[in-house]
Amino acid sequence: MENDRIFKGKIIALGVCGGIAAYKAVDLASKLTREGAGVKVIMTQNATRFVGPITFQSVTGQPVLTNLFDMESSANIGHVRISEEADILLIAPATANIIAKTAYGIADDALSTTILAARSTVVMVPAMNNHMWLNAAMQHNVEVLKSRGFHIIDPEIGRLACGEEAAVGRFPETSRIIDYVHGLFAHANDLKGTSILVTAGGTHEPIDPVRYIGNRSSGKMGYAIAEEAAARGADVTLISGPTALATPSCVARINVETAQQMYEAVMDNLEETEVVIMSAAVADVRPSIAKSEKIKKERMPKNIGLELNPDILHAIASEKAGGLIVGFAAESENMIEHATDKLQRKSLDLIVANDISIPGVGFGSDFNLAVLIDNNGPIGEPATYRKDELAEKILNWIKDALTQLQR
Ligand code: PMT
Repeated sequence: MENDRIFKGKIIALGVCGGIAAYKAVDLASKLTREGAGVKVIMTQNATRFVGPITFQSVTGQPVLTNLFDMESSANIGHVRISEEADILLIAPATANIIAKTAYGIADDALSTTILAARSTVVMVPAMNNHMWLNAAMQHNVEVLKSRGFHIIDPEIGRLACGEEAAVGRFPETSRIIDYVHGLFAHANDLKGTSILVTAGGTHEPIDPVRYIGNRSSGKMGYAIAEEAAARGADVTLISGPTALATPSCVARINVETAQQMYEAVMDNLEETEVVIMSAAVADVRPSIAKSEKIKKERMPKNIGLELNPDILHAIASEKAGGLIVGFAAESENMIEHATDKLQRKSLDLIVANDISIPGVGFGSDFNLAVLIDNNGPIGEPATYRKDELAEKILNWIKDALTQLQR
């Protein structure tokens, strides 16, 4: 995060629920206060069993709301007053209980009532046991909230308080949450009304109903772009190859499997689109014949004939007059040279060159070692970014380029 004054004078209502990560919310409240925000904490009764309200009061210098019927605190910071004042409502940690109550509109305590009355953006940071997080009812409730425009910062994989190792459900690093909120304030609605089409993930090219040619793309890069663009007010269509990732809030998702299907989905949506971002790893080739029945092991051919898939970027550039076209280049050597060649050959406005030769970045990772290259050359030096940070950088470039186009 840049050391700026973005939090100065902002009111952040911080809802704290009853989970072990409640103690980490103290650090969050303290850092946001030190950044210059007025942090008004609302605790559920269960949260007060993990951390005392006095702790939050000490780090924020503000009274803490714990009880809907506490006349004294209600007069100063009652739930309706907080809902009106807050620039953002941040629920961290958000338990399964508050997520379910919010999805069903239940308002039976200070926090759930504040959420129901909220007029500002609501960001939820779920943290819980992995089985609870993955439970179908829980995932359904999360999807309901996303479709209503709530922001959800997905939990991380790591060691959980219940003893599970490398399981999903962990409360993210405080810095990630602060960066996210910073991004919401910094770019509030700066892409409102812009239609952006993002492709993500790899394509699967069938050999038979069971086997396919594919690649290691997880979709994380494209989903991070879609999430950031939607958070900044853009109308986002996400054309996604097969992935287990959840659809980001306020994003229209079209699922595809093959490069040919991705090509058709992109072309069908091109007319209404101002910006295309091709972060998908599209298979360049497909088996010439895909069998409709599973090939028996004994009958497996020694060689599989291949044919070329459509080059989607090339087709977009030939069709599209105006707007912006952004490509990606996954390179394992001479990154800048090869990516610049793709930028020119495919008539792009921007290419994101990423180095896939180094372990721990690129395909499947939360990080990308990348540099943006436009028609004036590379913008800075290659560096390792979290994919959400890189998404922010790409969209900042797009925002500036759109502003130039409108002049
Ligand atoms: O999904 P993740 O696990 O998060 O990984 C992210 C990523 C590494 C996949 C992503 O950062 C990335 O580099 N995506 C592009 C990968 C790729 O296919 O690179 P390429 O150099 O082969 O293709 C260049 C560009 O042409 C890409 O924008 C690609 O989408 C596009 N392309 C490629 C082939 C094709 N037939 N049609 C295309 O439009």
